Amino acid sequence: MSNLIPVNEPLLSGNEKKYLCECIDTGWISSEGPFVQRLEKEFAARVGRRFGVAVANGSLALDAAVKALDLVPGDEVIMPSFTIISCAAAIVRSGATPVLVDSEPDSWNMDLRQVEQKITPRTRAVMAVHIYGLPVDMDALLAITGPRGIKVIEDAAEMHGQTIRTRPCGSFGDISTFSFYPNKHVTTGEGGIIVTDDERLAERCRSLRNLCFMPQKRFVHEELGWNFRMSNLQAALGCAQLERLDSFIARKRNMGARYDSLLSDVKGLQRPVPSTAWAENIYWVYGLVLDDAFPFDAEEAMRRLSAKGIGCRPFFWPMHEQPVFRRMGLFAGESYPVAERLARRGFYVPSGLALSDEQMDRVAVAVREVFAP
Ligand SMILES: Cc1ncc(COP(=O)(O)O)c(C=O)c1O
Repeated sequence: MSNLIPVNEPLLSGNEKKYLCECIDTGWISSEGPFVQRLEKEFAARVGRRFGVAVANGSLALDAAVKALDLVPGDEVIMPSFTIISCAAAIVRSGATPVLVDSEPDSWNMDLRQVEQKITPRTRAVMAVHIYGLPVDMDALLAITGPRGIKVIEDAAEMHGQTIRTRPCGSFGDISTFSFYPNKHVTTGEGGIIVTDDERLAERCRSLRNLCFMPQKRFVHEELGWNFRMSNLQAALGCAQLERLDSFIARKRNMGARYDSLLSDVKGLQRPVPSTAWAENIYWVYGLVLDDAFPFDAEEAMRRLSAKGIGCRPFFWPMHEQPVFRRMGLFAGESYPVAERLARRGFYVPSGLALSDEQMDRVAVAVREVFAP
């Protein structure tokens, strides 16, 4: 449908083209080019960290971050059931066991009381995942994990430019990760970054990203790594995007407020929480959750909206309901009612940076036609 409003469209109207042309003019297109180190340095500085390691995507950033912690079979990592599979996959691939908690019904973030309840002598880490624009209260989480010596992996994939109280997201974990997929506030097409203050963890991630080549003897390996390097072309995009992050966040907040006012009187639709005691929403995506009174679920709602030219996406599907993990014998008999409900009743409407006010108005008209006819 030519008139479709896409669920996301990135904004590439700054120095993106100029920096890409620089790559081509200089011949620097591989991961050895100067934009990669520049992005690592500038992004790490932006989130107040000493080291940045740019990688091929946010999922591999999680794989490397978990692997760098040297977990062993039997070690447990607590994480939310309501998230993307990359989080649990990284833990499973590392040989450790993911231990799930449910989410809060309003913020959609992991429930920290349940985190505390799930701690055992085998708990080695907590993977905190900030969901859809509102962050987990990391100060409260660190008060739980810190005294117990439990490591924190902070998945800030969706949280570029967000702060908790005054501190940037991505600055709390022993190791933190971001995604640069095109629906993120900073995109490199495909890409991600690991940030940390721990030089040893940063070096481990650099080595894992580059096939674990030995510095003294190339092509000799003591460990198996991967090639998930980021190219100079991708990093060039990222540097240009990062220059405008503050204006992107201001626009996203403005979009959140606009959708709020356009939809505030539509009954039975739960909208994102605008703020908590520790953060203001940056509306990475504008999610909606259907009240139980609606006689249809999110899938049907998206079908009806897409028939009106509105691109939508479903919410995450919980980890404990993933066939792949069930087949592995994980999470048998476990139930997380909030995550289950969000998956069945939640979806998001067009939220990309290139979305115009007029397009948002059209989305709101279509939402009204479907939910408040
Ligand atoms: C919370 C979270 N973690 C990890 C990822 C994975 O990032 P990528 O798509 O770059 O692999 C995403 C992607 O959207 C995400 O939302």
